[in-house]
Amino acid sequence: MLQNDLLLRAAKGQEVERAPVWLMRQAGRVLPEYRATRARAKNFIDFVKNPELACEVTIQPVDILGVDAAIIFSDILVIPEAMGLPYQMIEAKGPWFEKTVKNKNDVEALHIAEAGNLDYVLKAIRLTKKELNQRVPLIGFAGAPWTLFAYMIEGSGSKTFSKAKQFLYTQPEVAHLLLEKITQSSINYLKAQVEAGADMLQIFDSWAGVLSENMYYEFSLKYISKICDALSPLVPVTVFAKDAHYAIEKIAQTNCNSIGLDWTIDPTKARNQAVTKTLQGNADPCLLYAPEQKIISETHSMLKSFGKQRYICNLGHGLYPDLDKEKVKLFVDVVKSYNWTS
Ligand code: CP3
Repeated sequence: MLQNDLLLRAAKGQEVERAPVWLMRQAGRVLPEYRATRARAKNFIDFVKNPELACEVTIQPVDILGVDAAIIFSDILVIPEAMGLPYQMIEAKGPWFEKTVKNKNDVEALHIAEAGNLDYVLKAIRLTKKELNQRVPLIGFAGAPWTLFAYMIEGSGSKTFSKAKQFLYTQPEVAHLLLEKITQSSINYLKAQVEAGADMLQIFDSWAGVLSENMYYEFSLKYISKICDALSPLVPVTVFAKDAHYAIEKIAQTNCNSIGLDWTIDPTKARNQAVTKTLQGNADPCLLYAPEQKIISETHSMLKSFGKQRYICNLGHGLYPDLDKEKVKLFVDVVKSYNWTS
């Protein structure tokens, strides 16, 4: 049995003594310890594929920052790779795909990923569960089908993802074919993560914000909803749709357990739009550049707005690499020592 199950209780809407806290992108980036481990791998992809190293950096934030959950060190782009579209992670630039998807033939050439294609992630999860020794829950994750689609069409990061959007407007049937293949792959992958020991799951829709509302429902939420239907009977599922404020009410109608919010959303408004769900978020990561007093006061007011129950404290997006580890730790400590009765 888990020694600290605050995250799971909060996600299921059960009573908690205080809100749990963890941070998106906590495995990596701000910790010098992460950079030291990373230096032992040839490159990012070898790092992700090495279960011992992945386990080590997954546990670092639990030991160093004192967060209430671990999130497995991996990347959302392992799914496109497992489907037949390999990528590279270019230093200081980001992901890059040599081959991209342009038409129906390209979609047909991709296969639906099976658990066996992602054995290295499952090994890392099993090892991490063993090493965590029931201290805190382990979160598994996948990219949302739309966000993965966006990288598979575009071939790299982009401000607008206009090639991916062009594809939706010019080849909608083919787009649905690909989104369905990604969805089936993700369901296989996430089920295997749960079998390997993941206690909870998060779906990252980082590029939700580039779509219009109707296109978001048609090309993104429909597929996220299928993933929630398949996985939420097994473990709690969080849907994080960055910049999709307009969609909270509809996200709340899926079978997810909790909704991740970015910092552009007012907690009270979000509560009114998603009364039956747990909310996660939503401090601006840039708050952690502020002087200590400001970090403390802003965090207190956020905690007050969300309230103690049905809440998972987090940032509104991932940590930035140049944040000071001490300020990140301060944020975690402020949440853990907050006097909820005040
Ligand atoms: O949250 C965690 O700490 C777990 C590990 C994790 C990584 N990537 C490790 C990583 C998770 C959950 C992700 C998700 C991910 N990957 C997303 C969704 C979340 C988000 O931030 O919106 C996206 C869009 C990606 C794709 C990706 N991976 C990009 C664009 C980049 C390059 C730029 C960047 O963000 O650093 C990565 C690389 C990456 N993934 C790093 C880490 C720790 C940095 C690589 C390094 O160590 O040099």
